[in-house]
Formats: sequence, structure tokens, C-alpha cells
Amino acid sequence: MPITIKSARELKLMEESGRILEAVHDELGKALRPGMSTLDIDRMGEEIIRSYGCIPSFLNYNGYPASICVSVNEEVVHGIPSKKRILREGDIVSLDAGVIYKGYHSDAARTYGIGEISKEAEQLIRVTRECFFEGIKYAKSGNHLFDISRAVARHAEKHGYGVVRDLCGHGIGTKLHEDPQIPNYEMERKGPLLKPGMTLAIEPMVNMGTWEVEWLDDDWTVVSKDHSLSAHYENTVVITDGDPKLLTLGVRQSKG
Ligand code: MF3
Ligand code: CO
Repeated sequence: MPITIKSARELKLMEESGRILEAVHDELGKALRPGMSTLDIDRMGEEIIRSYGCIPSFLNYNGYPASICVSVNEEVVHGIPSKKRILREGDIVSLDAGVIYKGYHSDAARTYGIGEISKEAEQLIRVTRECFFEGIKYAKSGNHLFDISRAVARHAEKHGYGVVRDLCGHGIGTKLHEDPQIPNYEMERKGPLLKPGMTLAIEPMVNMGTWEVEWLDDDWTVVSKDHSLSAHYENTVVITDGDPKLLTLGVRQSKG
């Protein structure tokens, strides 16, 4: 499928979708406590999403059974919320959520520490976030998609981390996953030319050890192969004539 260019009308809807998703993440981030189950997070997340009149896009997506992907420690992404999985002080937890507002998707992920976490874990979370910001320096009209991929990969590798290769970022719009796929590793080709109106979900997944991952028997949960800690950070962005616009970050106060 070709990469879709969104109209001004569509971008308005995606902005609102992103603004709501940012609010969902902010509320969930503040609620995290040791002793909570990962299912508690999912329940709360679904309730917040619906309170904004939105639909949780992950629920039933290819059979995924929850609204929020909750991935703890060595879990990379797509952890399935469970009442038996209790967060403990020192854990790191990645929350990935998506909403649909008037037919338009937004997608974002954050990784948090529960209580006090190790210096190493703090650094992993920080560098994963930085990878996103290194990547979006290249998310400009006239650049190529894999310029973003290279910048993400180099930043993670500079710190000796493994960047997950089995899962990628993606275009987003009236569907959760649109073309193009956005690798977080260096490519030999340049990739498609970036143009204003493209909407992308850029999402580095970074392991403290090897980049290799495996799937648990639930067929969803992705874990690092060496069981090292893993972090995830994602925002939905729009390519413009200038700097990219972040739809799921830093947009709440600027609107009424
Ligand atoms: N945020 C994930 C992604 O970008 C989507 C989760 S897949 C689901 O691909 F099945 F859990 F919804
Ligand atoms: Co995504």
C-alpha cells in the first residue's frame, strides 16, 4: 500500500486522538504503584480511554485480549495484563496504548520504573527515550525514512544496547498499522522519501543485552532472549514542512 498523506481535516482528528492518548498515558503513569496487578493497569486504561469517548484500538486487534500492553522487565512488548502479575519495587514496566477517535488512531508507549530502580535500569529507560528524539531529528520532509532508523540504532548501540529488529514502527491513520514499516536498525537502502502529511508511529524497543527476542507460549508476549531488561518508547508524529509535530507528547497544555 502507498504511504497515505493526511489532509488538514484528518490531521485535526489525529491531533485530538493523540492529545487524548497523551492524557491516558499521563493518568496511567501517575497511578503506577508497587502491589498493582498488570490487569489493574489495563482496566484503568480502558476506562480512561472510554471516558474520552474513544475506542481502545488494541482490544481484539488480531485477537489481542486487552486494551493496554503491559510489559514488565525482560518483556519487550505485547505483555498480556494479568491479575496474577503484580508490580514490585524495582521493576520496570512498559505501557503501550492506542486509541481511536472519530476513526483516527494514535499510538504511544512509555516505560516507567516502579519505586526505586537500579541506575542501569534508569539509564536504559533514558537512552530508549533519547533514541526516539535522535530519530525524529531526521523526521523531516526531504529526508528518507531510514535516516530515522539509523539515528535510533546508533544511539542505542553507542550505549552497548541491543535494538530489537523483529518489530518495527509504522505508519498510522485510519488503521493502527499502515505502511511504511519503520525499522529501528540501520538499513542499506534509504527508504521512502518523507513528505508533509505522513503520520508515523516511531517506537524504539531497546534491550540491555542482545537484540534477539523470543515469543512466550501465549503467542503475544515478546521477551529478550537473554532475559535482559527491555524498554519501549513511542509517539505518533506528523511530518511537516519544518520540524515534525508530536501528537502524543507535549500537546496538552497548548490546547484548551
Ligand atoms: N503499539 C503496538 C504497535 O505499535 C500495537 C500493539 S499490537 C496489539 O504495534 F495487538 F497489542 F494491539
Ligand atoms: Co506502534
